[in-house]
Amino acid sequence: MEELTGKNILVTGATSGIGQAIAARLVAEGSNVALNYRNDINKLDDTKKMIEKMTSKMDNKGGQYLPVEGDVSEEKDILRMYDEVIKKWGSLDILVNNAGIQIYDPSEQVETDDFDKVINVNLRGAYLCAREAIQHFLNTEKKGIILNVSSVHEIIPRPQYVSYAISKGGIKSMTQTLALEYAPYGIRVNAIAPGATDTSINDDWLDDPQKKQAMKRRIPLGRVGTPEEMAAAAAFLMSDEAQYITGQTLFIDGGMTLYPNFLNS
Ligand code: BGC
Repeated sequence: MEELTGKNILVTGATSGIGQAIAARLVAEGSNVALNYRNDINKLDDTKKMIEKMTSKMDNKGGQYLPVEGDVSEEKDILRMYDEVIKKWGSLDILVNNAGIQIYDPSEQVETDDFDKVINVNLRGAYLCAREAIQHFLNTEKKGIILNVSSVHEIIPRPQYVSYAISKGGIKSMTQTLALEYAPYGIRVNAIAPGATDTSINDDWLDDPQKKQAMKRRIPLGRVGTPEEMAAAAAFLMSDEAQYITGQTLFIDGGMTLYPNFLNS
């Protein structure tokens, strides 16, 4: 995707899971990628390995990367991250709002602090990052792009993960609202909604054959998705191939959102 070559892109939560795969794919496409991480400098080594793997597969197009530390639930960290990126590359073309966490608890027992933590990272953090990106796009008259990483749970209810479900429902609304508000400036805002994906956030069921089987029964294509598959869809939405698409969520879920129970009814 030639148009991604040379683009300056900030990816939040870039040192694990889907964020890591998106970041690696973008470097391989020749983009300059700011890899946001938090407290997990060691995971940068994994990210570097994945970047090397993808870059060698796709020919080296000269993409660079810059690790930027910061907690997206802290406004001051976000502002500092933007400063670092602009100082290094002069401008930003694309924001990938990927950082996300989830905490399990029956809804009547959720601790207020845990609720706040999830909302502050997944929703408030994503909005604050988007706000800074849009200000920059407007100030520099750039037709920038925001790509949010949502979830199938922006539409599928998720018992025992109420804060997560609320945050992803909010991401859907934010995607549509910002897309509409800034379409007159040529700014595009879209989301990907991954289903069950082979990343460490899912170790609890990936490592348990029975739970994994139960998860697969919810997926018409019969298998778990890979982070690389999520990254491919993300790259498409950021490319010029998608220049007429805004305000949309692309579900990459093996059919999980197709009411699989109806298959044999
Ligand atoms: C969650 C995963 C879950 C998947 C499908 C994702 O948004 O992060 O933990 O397995 O949705 O339910």
